[in-house]
Amino acid sequence: MSRDIRITPSILNADFTRLDDEISKISAQSDLIHLDIMDDIFVPNKTFDFESASRIISRCPIPVDAHLMVADVDSIAVQYAEAGAASVTIHVEAADDIRTTLKEIRRHGARAAMALKPGTSIEQYSEYFDLVDMVLIMTVEPGFGGQAFMEQMMPKVRETRKLIGDRPIWLQVDGGISLATIEMAHEAGADTFVAGSAVFKAEDPGLMVELLRRQVSID
Ligand code: DX5
Ligand code: ZN
Repeated sequence: MSRDIRITPSILNADFTRLDDEISKISAQSDLIHLDIMDDIFVPNKTFDFESASRIISRCPIPVDAHLMVADVDSIAVQYAEAGAASVTIHVEAADDIRTTLKEIRRHGARAAMALKPGTSIEQYSEYFDLVDMVLIMTVEPGFGGQAFMEQMMPKVRETRKLIGDRPIWLQVDGGISLATIEMAHEAGADTFVAGSAVFKAEDPGLMVELLRRQVSID
């Protein structure tokens, strides 16, 4: 398997009081920073409001991958693209007009991505593949970092990889990714890995990003 690999650390479990510092520990080793936006409606947790998120996006030394876990995502998604996020991910469960929203994200210069919660199956969403640059298969219920990796999502990752076929779409997994689980997800077809607590609870977060990458780069 020789696929390009991307490691996108989530700052959800980083120290929010000194984010610049936390980001500087991993920016040299990471492909993108994964920014989790939660509104306490779509998921039972709240992170950054738009203003703080925009500030993070504009200060971040590497591209930002915004994962929007918010209700009424259709109108909000475009704002993140405008704010400079390199990639904007909407949950299919939260969007009213998936097609238009994905198109709008791209029209505003960002990569467009769609995410699926563990209980949502992929079949009916492959019709949007011509409009996405990445598909995110959640490997935990969205809302919190530090949860256990759901191995039972691997058949869905495999199926998504098959449905993607030759298209240049990244396949991302998010939730419970660590040195113990990343290979399983890679083997199932993922090429873009979010890791939150595994990275920020490590003694050397930058080294952990490298170790995760190495784990899936040896064929
Ligand atoms: C969970 C978030 C994840 C989270 C991952 O809803 O979408 O990005 O930060 O954290 P870990 O890697 O600790 O599961
Ligand atoms: Zn996330």
